[in-house]
Amino acid sequence: MSAEKMETTDIMSNGAGPVYEEKEETLGPEDLSELLAAGTKEVHEKAENTQFVKDFLRGRIRKELFKLGAVALYYTYTAMEEEIEKNKDHPHFAPLYFPVELHRHEALARDLEYFYGPDWQSQVSCSPATQHYVDRIHQVGQEDPVLLVAHAYTRYMGDLSGGQVLKKVAQRALKLPSTGEGLEFYQFDAIHSAKAFKQLYRSRMNELELDMETKQKLVDEAVKAFQFNMEVFEELEEIGKTIQEDVLDAGMPVHGAMGGDIS
Ligand code: HEM
Repeated sequence: MSAEKMETTDIMSNGAGPVYEEKEETLGPEDLSELLAAGTKEVHEKAENTQFVKDFLRGRIRKELFKLGAVALYYTYTAMEEEIEKNKDHPHFAPLYFPVELHRHEALARDLEYFYGPDWQSQVSCSPATQHYVDRIHQVGQEDPVLLVAHAYTRYMGDLSGGQVLKKVAQRALKLPSTGEGLEFYQFDAIHSAKAFKQLYRSRMNELELDMETKQKLVDEAVKAFQFNMEVFEELEEIGKTIQEDVLDAGMPVHGAMGGDIS
């Protein structure tokens, strides 16, 4: 059984970033993008159904908890992007190296500065669940860098799938400025079409020269990456129970309004 895919190639640069052209191709069951999508379908559904994520989508998110979420993301992306930088020339990662388009470390540092002030670094620390995730990222970066593909896929493809909706939910619920301060993480300025970029990323993943055994290891690692994220959500959920603050019901209508593109 084969599905259709839109392969995306860079055709030229217009000075404001590359322009992508789409051409249709047949997608095989052994293509990494298909294996990852199919292999993480179940754990993706689980992640969508964690209480923290469901509450977030409904706009039921307290500012203190949102800030701690940004802290967790900061440590996670710092680790991931550190290992990506170290492995950027590795043949099994190089085609997926898009620092200008994707990297979130600096955006998150600006968000944390907005929330915690100029001495934000002395006010934040890495939580146990986040540390668990971070340790695994460093371990794969050092011992088996091809597995970084699974970590990059899980985070960046997810961010590109739902960033704009999540940004709007948070902006509304937390009454953040419409100028985007505090929400830079969700804003990919160097990507003009998330859909086209995701197609490019998928085709780059499919062009990696990997045997089936390695592809299977990548699927297993992506499932782990989702689980690490869920551990962080569950930890936030627990912390949330101890924080006393008014909950604002300012979410987006969950049914129907997502256009199938929220992550
Ligand atoms: C893709 C929904 C949470 C990771 C998607 C897509 C949807 C979606 C509709 C498909 C987008 C497209 O085809 O262009 C949701 C919803 C979530 C959620 C409603 C929570 C309420 C998460 C979480 C993660 C994640 C927590 C991981 C940390 C991904 C990934 C993809 C994706 C990796 C790309 C799948 C692929 O095409 O291979 N999500 N998502 N999502 N999401 Fe989520």
